[in-house]
Amino acid sequence: MNRRAFLKLNAIALAGVSMPLYAMKDGEHAHHNAHNMHQNMKKIYTDFIELAPANLKLLNEDKFPKGLNLNALNLLKNESNKEGFFLANIEINESELELIKGKKTKCYTYNGKFIGEKIEVFEGDVVEISVINKLKEPTNIHWHGLSVPPSEDGDAHNPIQPNSKRTYSFKIPQNSAGTYWYHPHPHYDTAKQVYMGLAGAFVVRAKNDVLKSFEEQDLFISDLKLDENAQIPANNLNDWLNGREGQFVLINGQKQPKITYNGERLRIYNACSARYLNLRINGVKIALIGTDGGLIEKPVILDELFLSPASRVEVLLMAENEGKFELESIYYDRDKMLIKEEPINLNLASIELKKSAVLPSKLRKFPKQAKIKQIKKVVMSENHSFMHGIEKKDKNGIKESLAQMFLLDDKIFDMSRIDKQSKLGEFEDWIVTNKSHMDHPFHVHGTQFELIYTQNNGVETKPKFRAYMDTINIRPNETVRLRMKQDFTGIRMYHCHILEHESLGMMGNLEVKE
Ligand code: C2O
Ligand code: CU
Ligand code: CU
Repeated sequence: MNRRAFLKLNAIALAGVSMPLYAMKDGEHAHHNAHNMHQNMKKIYTDFIELAPANLKLLNEDKFPKGLNLNALNLLKNESNKEGFFLANIEINESELELIKGKKTKCYTYNGKFIGEKIEVFEGDVVEISVINKLKEPTNIHWHGLSVPPSEDGDAHNPIQPNSKRTYSFKIPQNSAGTYWYHPHPHYDTAKQVYMGLAGAFVVRAKNDVLKSFEEQDLFISDLKLDENAQIPANNLNDWLNGREGQFVLINGQKQPKITYNGERLRIYNACSARYLNLRINGVKIALIGTDGGLIEKPVILDELFLSPASRVEVLLMAENEGKFELESIYYDRDKMLIKEEPINLNLASIELKKSAVLPSKLRKFPKQAKIKQIKKVVMSENHSFMHGIEKKDKNGIKESLAQMFLLDDKIFDMSRIDKQSKLGEFEDWIVTNKSHMDHPFHVHGTQFELIYTQNNGVETKPKFRAYMDTINIRPNETVRLRMKQDFTGIRMYHCHILEHESLGMMGNLEVKE
């Protein structure tokens, strides 16, 4: 915390405003404590880090069945027949699934399915989802991108213990129609539980949808790593440093499926732990119509669709002639550490386009840009002193280095520390700078923000269109200015959405007060 912020906190305390004690931990009063805290944190942080050998043999890529017709996502069943009420159950289990013929892969599942069932609700709905944790470790469910009260947000502050149950209940806000997703968010183990298989789609619909007449398809893109016995291995050093990427990139759990396109509205999710997608369909125009938080003002034609981890979009496709096309992910250099990559394009699916979409001219009206009351700054960085010779260290040395490497505002996440404070319902700008050497996707809970500008080498670039997002990629040495507000009091998290970095503590707590 800088001197001025510290003084401000003290001033608030002196003014008699009730402030949680733990906010002081970071200040100078707590100096004598700092060493202990640091030691403790190191211990906690290294305990959860599993480290697979770098040379672990992976399953041959041909073993995964491919080329089958794309299956639609299964729907999570609404048990209620009351209008405006969504009532459902999710059991979280360790399962053995036959992903590879003749092999049983141990994974974590929502209701026993390899990809979590899709949740579909309407704006204004009351949602009640009961969750039973049958894992041997704490977990929870985070409703990524949705504005629900912090107590229902399923973040690291609210774990569900093994063999326990809890019910999440929240109301879907008006004007929030969009493409969201859900995944676990326990302290330390988010990365692991997602690569073990936990994630699902969450769609909010508007009652007066301008695209009501469109059929829909979901492309839920996830990433899977399997060892030669078809088991999901722990992260290795490279996974922890750069974020995990498996040898399989799957759509709705399928490898290189056949997609048939008849002019539908496509919702695409990047549910990968760390893989960047840069989608292209040679011969097909992609019209972007929506981002994380729903529709944009009007369609925007793109050659390539860049989707960093955790981002979602809605698109329509158009081609001059019907025919067969390939959906590829074009190589994107995100400046990974230690390794040099071959610039390889991935083939994700084949698309048989039978009919182009009919482009609507207008999609949504955005309100006038709000005035802000506050500016916050966040710096993403890496502590390179721990990086030197890391691959030559022993297991413990590597773990200790990893646990101190990925920083927000020069700090490793501390559950009991408040890093920032906001006022309920007040618009503010977050100026987030990436001072590290690799890309990091930045995510804030409980809100949809708008990009005001991107700044590179002192040059500010305004976005070409307005859009609501909850996650945005930031290049090395790049700054983004984001406008947002929070609609509930309580504690919110913000973090890098490369899940390994999140789990290693590249995360902070925001306290929202009246
Ligand atoms: Cu996908 Cu903290 O979130
Ligand atoms: Cu989130
Ligand atoms: Cu990161």
